[in-house]
Amino acid sequence: MHSLKWWQTTVFYQIYPRSFADGNGDGIGDFAGMIDRLDYLRDLGVGALWLSPHYPSPNADCGYDISDYTGVAPEYGTLDDFRRFLEGAHARGMRVLLDLVLNHTSEDHPWFRESRSSRNNPKRDWYIWRDPAPDGGPPNNWYSAFGGSAWTFDEATGQYYYHFFFKEQPDLNWRNPDVKQAMWHAVRFWLDMGVDGFRLDAIDTIFEDPNLTPQQSKLSQIEMLRIWRENRPPEETKELWEQFALMFRHQVQQPGLHELMKELRALVDEYPGDRVLIGEGDDIAYYGNGHDELHLVFNFPLMRTNRLTPAWIRANQAERLAALPPGAWPCNTLGNHDVGRMWTAYGDGVHDAALARLHVTMLLTLKGTPVLYNGEEIGMTDLLLERFDQLRDNQAVNLYDAAVNDGIPADEAMRMAAKISRDRCRTPIQWANAPNAGFSPAGVTTWLPVNPNYAQGVNVAEQVGDPHSLLTFYRRLIAARQATPALLEGDYTPLHPNEERYLAFLRTTPEQRCLVALNFTAEPVTASFAPGEDSLLRTIFSTHPRPAGEENPAHLTLAPFEAYIGEILPERQG
Ligand code: GLC
Repeated sequence: MHSLKWWQTTVFYQIYPRSFADGNGDGIGDFAGMIDRLDYLRDLGVGALWLSPHYPSPNADCGYDISDYTGVAPEYGTLDDFRRFLEGAHARGMRVLLDLVLNHTSEDHPWFRESRSSRNNPKRDWYIWRDPAPDGGPPNNWYSAFGGSAWTFDEATGQYYYHFFFKEQPDLNWRNPDVKQAMWHAVRFWLDMGVDGFRLDAIDTIFEDPNLTPQQSKLSQIEMLRIWRENRPPEETKELWEQFALMFRHQVQQPGLHELMKELRALVDEYPGDRVLIGEGDDIAYYGNGHDELHLVFNFPLMRTNRLTPAWIRANQAERLAALPPGAWPCNTLGNHDVGRMWTAYGDGVHDAALARLHVTMLLTLKGTPVLYNGEEIGMTDLLLERFDQLRDNQAVNLYDAAVNDGIPADEAMRMAAKISRDRCRTPIQWANAPNAGFSPAGVTTWLPVNPNYAQGVNVAEQVGDPHSLLTFYRRLIAARQATPALLEGDYTPLHPNEERYLAFLRTTPEQRCLVALNFTAEPVTASFAPGEDSLLRTIFSTHPRPAGEENPAHLTLAPFEAYIGEILPERQG
């Protein structure tokens, strides 16, 4: 049949280890919990698991500040536990990808401890150290993406070090070949163990302008924050994004990046089994020529809206697919650990349940590899924290402090912080209608509060056997997708390009042609999708009951918010 690789046809699923399943009852997810849930993941039908960082970390950035690249965080288990997880996943036909944070380490990493210990330390140049400006201030006016200056002064040696993210996340100096060697050693460590690939964190930020050219944004960070507070839809904040891009211009996407990605690709390609690299970055350039850099690059632009409309999706696909180099494969997603949950982010507050089904059907039928985020399959929603001491995302803590300093009253600052806090999408997975949602035993304080809506049916145990639940819907949809070659490998052809009520497209291989028609309105719509006089439509999947047998594509009526997938059968002879 097809000649595609496993990572082109399977469904990826992101696990946030801290919140997935607590096996030892300490309020924190772990490998014991993940191992217990492998059957659940197999039954869901996903074929690859990407783990957010599982390495030892002081958790200034919830694991994205790594202090040992070849270890396992003690609260998650041991290396042997990890091996058991990997073997268990493989035994069930699932692959495992790790998160690889190249840009920075934790300030607690032994490399940084050595580096900061003296100006003459052999590892001094593993990080980015600069003398103070003549006035004693930071070397230039660059900002950290998480707020404040990108430079932190280190008393002991009288220099500043650079950090694109938190000050606890010093940037590695990737122009030093020893850094590369040390990191490639860690990469090989996991590949040798049998890991199937990596999601590459924050690749845009790996290099920075060595001349430290000052940034020239017209807005300061606090001014940006004020505009952001006005809560305008992303489509109306073009100027803000332009100034934002100017602000970080010399700190992202600098020369050297593509050579580095090529080198990493070559390393990964030495291993058998088609190991895979997925880039956290928008830029299509990370595909290289389609074969020499990253296998997959997230289509983040699709997500950057408050409302997924047919026009938005069509425009995104048109632009993205046209820009891909030959051989490059798309990768779509609607959620991850850094953004609001898709149920909340793209719901309208009235038809959320129907929209959740419509949106995931879109995600799983567009051309390319879909990536799901844990908890979406049961309809988990954002949880807005109410108290400052509940915040675990330091980005939200920084925002709160900045807002209070800017004169915002504390309770309003807390509401702002809760809304932007990445904690909102990182709460424990809701396994049952039981204390702590069955994530941890009763009486245990979980690392983030559990969303109380587990008691309203948003939990696995109650959905698993319910034919009408969202979880059952996900399972059926994934199974239908995996059994339909045109949905896996077919070309994408948009239909009815000016239609605002529904999104319709074909997925076509030489052997099979499928129609996907998604009604984005609360009204029924009837349309003609007949490619020829006498063609027929065989229903493959729908959110709604359909009459048995074949349909007439010349008069297809979609129920309100119906997501329909059908195979267009060859025209009848004579
Ligand atoms: C990526 C991660 C995010 C993290 C940042 C710094 O954007 O997804 O969670 O805070 O990189 O590592």
